[in-house]
Amino acid sequence: MTLLRDADLADAFDHAARGYDRLVGLNAGYHADLRRSARRLRLPDGGAGLRLLDLGCGTGASTAALLRAAPLARITAVDASAGMLERAAAKRWPRGVTFVHAPAERLAAAGVTGPFDAVFAGYLFRNVADPDAVLAAVHGLLRPGGRLAVHEYSLSGSAAHRAVWSAVCRTVILPAGRRTGDAGLYRHLHRSVLDFDTAPVFAARLARAGFTGTRVLPVPGWQTGIVHTFLGRRGGRIASGGAA
Ligand SMILES: C[S@@+](CC[C@H](N)C(=O)[O-])C[C@H]1O[C@@H](n2cnc3c(N)ncnc32)[C@H](O)[C@@H]1O
Repeated sequence: MTLLRDADLADAFDHAARGYDRLVGLNAGYHADLRRSARRLRLPDGGAGLRLLDLGCGTGASTAALLRAAPLARITAVDASAGMLERAAAKRWPRGVTFVHAPAERLAAAGVTGPFDAVFAGYLFRNVADPDAVLAAVHGLLRPGGRLAVHEYSLSGSAAHRAVWSAVCRTVILPAGRRTGDAGLYRHLHRSVLDFDTAPVFAARLARAGFTGTRVLPVPGWQTGIVHTFLGRRGGRIASGGAA
């Protein structure tokens, strides 16, 4: 199948927005894993004085994870889907959290400018047409020493993990997508994970984009080898021993 991109993908997420939180709720560990990746940013002092960007915030699950890791930070949460963003904005947030409707490829035009102390991207990069261009833009938005955490379906490269992913899609994700009328989006989810960079390849992509101290960390449970946290910095090094 052809993957969904840009406006077609935003339309598909608009349609899926209503059932999105219920669907991800079926995935034990979805929220805990996002929180784990956000914690891995190791943001100091509860985020006091920090400006953070949640890129591809969806219905706000990744924003909530970031807020848990840095409750005192100011957070700008951005998404290309108006429907997903509407769901996010309807939730209760502290005053420091703001939502912006924009594609990751056109942040400046929407008034989203740096510098940010950290950027978090939960399940975004597999969806963008040109991940190198978005990584370059993110690098440019970070202050020197600023941190990036990408939480993504990125397979380990082992045939076993690829087979587990396809089995979960066949038995759980694709049937659920058919039930909610979002079959196209969930076929995209299945295929986009199979086609996306493996974890070592995405880590090399980060390094090519100029990120330093890059690290790849697993998540526990059935998603081991399927979902990873990728960490990097604009200049400098991630402190060692930081895995949560
Ligand atoms: C799988 S959802 C994840 C949402 C949220 N980060 C989470 O962890 O639950 C991916 C989100 O990325 C958004 N997205 C995809 N491509 C995008 C792009 N180019 N620019 C901004 N958002 C994008 C989609 O609209 C969708 O809300």
